[in-house]
Amino acid sequence: MSEDSKLRIENVTKLYGYGLLGLKKFKALDNISMDIDLTKPRIVVLAGETGSGKTTLLRIIMGMVKPNIGRVFYKGRDIHKLRGSEAKWYRREVQPIFQDPYETFNPLRKIDSYFYDTIRNVVGIKNRGEAEHRIDESLRFVGLSLDRVKGKYPHEFSGGELQRISIARALLTHPKMLLADEPVSMLDATLRVGILNILKNLKEKLNMVIIYVTHDLSTAYYIGDDISIMYRGTLVEYGPISKVYQEPRHPYTYALLESILEPDPSIRERYPAIKPSSIELKEFLIPGCRYANRCPYAKEICWHTLPPPTNVDGVVVRCWKYLDYKQS
Ligand SMILES: Nc1ncnc2c1ncn2[C@@H]1O[C@H](COP(=O)(O)OP(=O)(O)OP(=O)(O)O)[C@@H](O)[C@H]1O
Ligand SMILES: [Mg+2]
Repeated sequence: MSEDSKLRIENVTKLYGYGLLGLKKFKALDNISMDIDLTKPRIVVLAGETGSGKTTLLRIIMGMVKPNIGRVFYKGRDIHKLRGSEAKWYRREVQPIFQDPYETFNPLRKIDSYFYDTIRNVVGIKNRGEAEHRIDESLRFVGLSLDRVKGKYPHEFSGGELQRISIARALLTHPKMLLADEPVSMLDATLRVGILNILKNLKEKLNMVIIYVTHDLSTAYYIGDDISIMYRGTLVEYGPISKVYQEPRHPYTYALLESILEPDPSIRERYPAIKPSSIELKEFLIPGCRYANRCPYAKEICWHTLPPPTNVDGVVVRCWKYLDYKQS
């Protein structure tokens, strides 16, 4: 994979304050590294329970939040150093889709005005006819059209339609990559699959790379090619989704998958690991593996040293189980 054909997340750490006045710091993200090949159309799922750092990582990739340590390279360029025309280029290449379509659009503003703004200011098309053609093209990709949305306000659409509209707006710039933060979690179950199929279609027809954030592991499997599992700000496992689901390597991934795939609810309840709890912060502050507190295999080293990424049969896993202790 050459530098200019990948997204490289390199040792990213983000500190946030907590406690009185937020003066104490915890690592909302700790030493996250991940490479995504941009030449292969794919959906990379970012999964993990609430507070694991998924949105923070996405915002860092967007350039909206700066990491305290580490860098993000897109096609060889450090995205937090882009200025002027390069920053504009990045805004065209990488587009976000947010969780709540009702928050994406101002209720007092007509939907089509967002499209004209993006076309003018980000894409740089000033000609009205050309702009309308491009807007219609992206709306048709999600099963709508410019005629259908023209002159209308957000409340005139259902949640599912609005989410399709926000996908269409993201497509206006002909992006290479979409960053979708739980795009279906606010929608009725019946509407979800329609949106998921649109994303799959974008991958296949437009050769896109989509980072798809969720904590729903069933839809993750339906949509994903690769998965990266996060726990309390650390990336514990990353690889092809079929491999990870068939044979989870990290004990946390194992517990997480057992709990959703187990049809018997009485057995499911034996895995409290996936429920957020008040000891969340305590786990964030463990200097080693954040899962040490709950892991049946935890040893001394797990508590004080974060394991380095190890390639285990095509899956990257961060767990001392797979490492020779002498490496520490
Ligand atoms: N601006 C901020 N200031 C302080 N703490 C923050 C800030 N943003 C996020 N956090 C904290 O960082 C941690 C990670 O948050 P983040 O929103 O990235 O998690 P998430 O995985 O997206 O969770 P969810 O599934 O609930 O959306 C949480 O403990 C959160 O409270
Ligand atoms: Mg989030």
